[in-house]
Amino acid sequence: MDSATDRTVARLIESVPTSDGAGVSLRRSLGSQRGLYVDPFLMLDEFFSDDPDDYLAGFPSHPHRGFETVTYMLDGHMRHQDHLGNTGDLGPGSVQWMTAARGIIHSEMPQQTAGRMRGFQLWLNLPASEKMKPASYRDVPASDIPVVPLAGGGEVKVIAGRFQGTAGPINGAGPALTTDPLYLDVHLPPHAELSVPIESSYSAFVYAYDGDALIGPPAQSRPLPRRAAAVLSAGDRVRLTAGAEGARLLLLAARPLREPVVQYGPFVMNTREEIEQAVEDYRHGRLTAAA
Ligand code: CO
Repeated sequence: MDSATDRTVARLIESVPTSDGAGVSLRRSLGSQRGLYVDPFLMLDEFFSDDPDDYLAGFPSHPHRGFETVTYMLDGHMRHQDHLGNTGDLGPGSVQWMTAARGIIHSEMPQQTAGRMRGFQLWLNLPASEKMKPASYRDVPASDIPVVPLAGGGEVKVIAGRFQGTAGPINGAGPALTTDPLYLDVHLPPHAELSVPIESSYSAFVYAYDGDALIGPPAQSRPLPRRAAAVLSAGDRVRLTAGAEGARLLLLAARPLREPVVQYGPFVMNTREEIEQAVEDYRHGRLTAAA
C-alpha cells in the first residue's frame, strides 16, 4: 500500500519585478521582502530578457559573506571573475556553485550585446559553523548535468541531489553540504504527471518558469502560476501535473538550518554584530582575508 504523504501548497510567493547589480532587470520571488524566505533558501531571482538594456550593466564587483550563490543559466553568457583570480564563462545550461562563506568579491558580467539572457540566481544559507570557512566555487558545465528522461515524456535535469537513482554534480562528492540540497529542473509535456520523493523533514518549493502546473494530489491540488514559487507543506513527496502548455519547473528542497537570519544586502549572518563585522571587514579590505 502506498502510504506516502503528499506535500501540498502551503503558500504562494509571487515574483516581483526589481533590479540588482548595476541595473539588471529581474523577477524576485523568495527574498523580495524581509523575512520572505524558505529556510535555508534565502532568495530566488530569475533574469529573463531579449532586450540588452535589461542586462548589459551586469553585476560589477560586489561582495558576499555567509552563504552560497548558485547561478543556473538557460540562455546567454556571463563571465565571472573573483578576487582569487578565478574566471569562468557561464553558458547555456551551466551552473556556478559559489560558496562565499567568509567572503568573496566578484563580478558577473554579460558576454553578449544582443540576444536573450535567461537564468536564475539562488541564495542558499550556510550554518553558523560554516559561515566563516574559506570561499570556494565550482563551475559545472552543462555536459556534467545529467538528464533523466521521464516515462511519460519530458525530462529532469539533476543539478544537485538525486532523482530516480541519478546523482547530480553537487551531491556530497567532495565535502557534503550540510543543507543537502536537491535542485531539479523539471520539463513536463502538456498534462504530464510526475511524483518526486522529498525528504520529509526538508523545506521545499517549486518555481514555474514556463507554462504552469498543478501542485499536489488531485483532491488538494493548487495551480502554480508562471514565475511564482509554491512553498510546500510537510510530506514525503510532491505530485506535479503540467498544464495545457506543459511546464518547466525548478524543484528545490534542503535541510532547514533553523538558525536566526540577519541580512544586510550581500551579507547574511546570525547576529547584528556579525553583520557589523562584515561591513567593517569589507570597508577595511579584510572581507576575504584568511582568519
Ligand atoms: Co554575486
